[in-house]
Amino acid sequence: MRLFFGVWPPASAASALAEWAEVVRGLSGGRRTPEANIHLTLSFLGQAEPARAIAAAKRVKGAPHRLPIEHARHVNRMIWVAPREVPAPLAALHSALAVELYREEFILERRPFAAHVTLIRNARGAVLPALPPLDWPVSEFVLVRSSLSSRGPSYEPLERFPLT
Ligand code: 2AM
Repeated sequence: MRLFFGVWPPASAASALAEWAEVVRGLSGGRRTPEANIHLTLSFLGQAEPARAIAAAKRVKGAPHRLPIEHARHVNRMIWVAPREVPAPLAALHSALAVELYREEFILERRPFAAHVTLIRNARGAVLPALPPLDWPVSEFVLVRSSLSSRGPSYEPLERFPLT
């Protein structure tokens, strides 16, 4: 199974981001992330069995917080949105999860955490319009199974981990 941990926006934020991305796609071309797939990746595991990932995540203590979406970038033919600075509780959640995943012997990428939400792939450069105001409270993270097909990835939540 191809697994990752992610954070999903509430429906109102997902819809605001999808609407913005649809406008941008008219300018940039490319493939828009379907609204239901819009997420922020905390940790990408690749091929793995869920049991050890679940064991690791259950030991993680994180605090609920908000994720501000403040800027949009076009990088490597992807258009993504992100906070200007990773909120401290999100950075702490990412580190705590990495520590617990190492304890379960996962080998993770050692790149610094670049919190972002990919909205369009295979995009040309475009002048990006202002982002909509949106509220993204983060109150849980999710272990997700990603299945790839010619129509793009589909994501199945396997287990949710509340932040308290
Ligand atoms: P991306 O949006 O920047 O492509 C599921 O594939 C999620 O895991 C995506 O959000 C993707 O980020 C992220 N991810 C991180 N590392 C990845 C990798 N090596 N291969 C595929 N997806 C990866």
